[in-house]
Parts: sequence; C-alpha cells; structure tokens
Amino acid sequence: MYNFRFSVPTTIYFGKGQISHLAELKDYGSKALLVYGGGSIKRNGIYDAALKILGDAGVAVTELSGVEPNPRIETVRKGVDLCKSEGIDMVLAIGGGSTIDCAKVVAAGAVYDGDAWDLVLDPEKIKEALPIFSVLTLSATGSEMDEFAVISDMSKNEKWGTGAQALKPTMSVLDPTYTYSVSKKQTAAGTADMMSHTFESYFTKEPGCDVQARFAEGLLKTMIKYGPVALEKPDNYDARANLMWAASHAINGLVAAGSQPAWCVHPMEHELSAFYDITHGEGLAILTPAWMDFVLKKDPSTAANFAAYGRNVWDIAETDDEKAAKEAIAKTRTFFFETMGLPANLRAVGIDSDEHFGVMAEKAAKGSEGCFVPLTKADIIEIFKAAF
Ligand code: NZQ
Ligand code: ZN
Repeated sequence: MYNFRFSVPTTIYFGKGQISHLAELKDYGSKALLVYGGGSIKRNGIYDAALKILGDAGVAVTELSGVEPNPRIETVRKGVDLCKSEGIDMVLAIGGGSTIDCAKVVAAGAVYDGDAWDLVLDPEKIKEALPIFSVLTLSATGSEMDEFAVISDMSKNEKWGTGAQALKPTMSVLDPTYTYSVSKKQTAAGTADMMSHTFESYFTKEPGCDVQARFAEGLLKTMIKYGPVALEKPDNYDARANLMWAASHAINGLVAAGSQPAWCVHPMEHELSAFYDITHGEGLAILTPAWMDFVLKKDPSTAANFAAYGRNVWDIAETDDEKAAKEAIAKTRTFFFETMGLPANLRAVGIDSDEHFGVMAEKAAKGSEGCFVPLTKADIIEIFKAAF
C-alpha cells in the first residue's frame, strides 16, 4: 500500500429537509454567487427554497445560470467576471456535477490573476478559492465531496480534469428526494459513472489494499442493487439515498488512497465528450466492458483481479480465474446494456465515424504509464473500435 494523505473537509448534511443548513452561509460573508444549470432546479422547487433560506439569512444572491452538461470554459469566465465585479464572498452550486464543477473553477478563478483556463490545464496554479458550497441534485460524479472539476473548451475539442485541495466544497447538502426528478437516462448514466469511479481505483496492481478493495466491492454491490430500483421507481427513497451516498464515497479518496493507479477509462471518455459532447456516464458504460476485454487479453495476469471482482461483487462461483473473469465482464455488460438500458456502442450515442480516433487516442494515452494496464495509442484505438 502506498503512502497517502486522506482529507475530506466537506461537511455533509444528508437527508430530507437538510437544505435549511444553507442559512450557515451567512458565516462566510454576505454575497453568494448562485450557480445552476438549465432550469431543473426551478421546476422541482429547489431554487425557490434556497432563495428563501438565503434571503432570511441575509445573504444576497447573484446568479450564474445556464451551466451546460459538460460545462464550458466560457461559462466559467462569466462566473469569474461576476465574482470580481460584484465582490462575491462565496460560490453556491445547485445541480449535478457539471454545475458543481463550473462553480469550483469559478471560485478558484475569482482569486486568480489570469485566465481560468490556466487552472484547468495546470492544477498547480490553484492555490486558493472562494468557499464552495453545493446542493446536489444528481448522484453521479462525486463532485460534492471531491477535489476535482472537469471543464471543456469545445472550440479546441478539449475536456480536461483539474483538481486541488482548495476545490473541495466546504459544505454539501445531499437530499435524496432532490434526485426523484432525475430522468431515466441520467439515472442510468449516473450509476455507470459512480461504478466507473470505483473501478478506476479498484483495479490496481498494488498489493495489500484489502480495506480499499472491500470498500469498493460494497459500493459496487450497492450501486448494482439500487440502480435498477431507481430506474423503476424514481421516488424510492432508499434507492436514491444509497446511490447518493455511494457516489460520494466512490471518488472522495476512500477507495483510491493507497492503491492509486492512474485512471484508464475516464481519459478515453473525456475525449469522446470533447469531440462529440456525449453524456459522460453513457460513454463510460460503452467503453468499460470493451476496456475490460482488452486489458484481460493484453495482460492475462489481470484475470485474478477480474475474477475477484466477479466472485465478490457478482457472487460468481467459478474457481478458474480466467473463466470467472470472463463471466464477470459479461455480467457488467448485461448490467449496463440490458438492466440499466444504457446505449451499448458509440453509434448509439451518435458517433458514426472513426475519423478522430487517432487524435483522441493519442491524447488519452498521455499519462497512461501508471494505469492498471498501461495503454498505448494503438491499444486505445483498438478499444474505441471495439466499442464502435
Ligand atoms: O441543467 P439542469 O437543468 O439542472 O439539468 C441537468 C442536466 O441536463 C439534469 N439534472 C440534474 N439534476 C436534476 C436534473 N434533471 C432533473 N432533476 C434533477 N434533480 O441532468 C442533466 C445532466 O447534469 P450534469 O450535471 O451534466 O450531470 P452529471 O452530474 O453526470 O455531471 C457530468 C459532468 O461531470 C464531469 C463529467 O465529465 C461531466 O462534465 N465529471 C466530474 C467529476 C468530478 N468533479 O469529480 C468526475 C467525473 O468523472 C466526471 O468527469
Ligand atoms: Zn466520471
């Protein structure tokens, strides 16, 4: 197990009615930038509830609305300008991962002297940020409790993740009832995303990380149990609550600390989103089984890892590692594409040509040396083709 630092300074208020704690924002100043997306928070009443609580607490609100899924750097820049011109004290995101990610980079950009895109390209430049708060409305990314933010510049077909201690939210409100209105498509994509975050750390060659592996298997079993329930019954509280809490833990360091391989599938998906603006979780679902097949073929020693996954998560009884590994991958495929109804190939999300695979693979291969199984540009092209 590698050495690690584990620090989650985010206060979580979990459960029904916990939005009342937004009143505590008054302790951080009198002016908040409220960041939200395309309007779901107005339709489900969270916007009105938040404004009332902030108003009663004496916190004045300036708004940055219209944050896109796969948030754009142009929107971040608008937010930074608002913070600087209005003398904003703190940033409050209400929404999914895109809204929270945008708010994070706005908060860092507000105290930075250059262009916010610098902070996306170089995390080392993020030394501080305005206090960040979130009210989560979609269980998926874990942005509510982690240090990452992913921002796109579509004019250059670039989507990059950045990360810094200063980007960890000060407080996040997790009310599972706020996710009752999430569509089937986003519920399925969110489940695939949280599973992928768990996989990215769980599949490691680092020995002796038993605590992390058992945490990961518990999270995966929970996601596999409740993803289908949330699809079937969007207002099932236990399903929404377990997915929400599992998603936060999949990426807050609990599973990654000490086992920490470089992520393999996310860099490939970020290229798909950068070129085709697809839904992140759908891209991950399409790529994951193709990646598993490829890795098992390239490095047969990974059969032991995939077999352990199969036995501990899917209760596969097979004793031969290679057979158990293949069965586990087949189970993953069936879960994503049949049980959760996710699109099964790149064509199904509108990618109808392989013309950019070369440049996408070249970018995704950068930093792959530390992966579970390092991937070359040619390997990634093969995975894209298998997913096509
Ligand atoms: O914009 P609104 O109107 O709010 O609608 C959103 C959006 O259209 C809607 N939605 C959210 N909550 C809802 C709701 N609709 C009805 N009821 C609700 N309660 O869902 C749509 C998708 O929202 P978005 O925020 O884009 O989804 P998600 O949370 O999956 O975030 C995806 C983004 O996060 C990045 C992804 O790359 C992508 O850009 N990621 C961030 C990570 C992080 N910060 O750690 C890690 C991830 O791996 C990921 O890369
Ligand atoms: Zn993700």
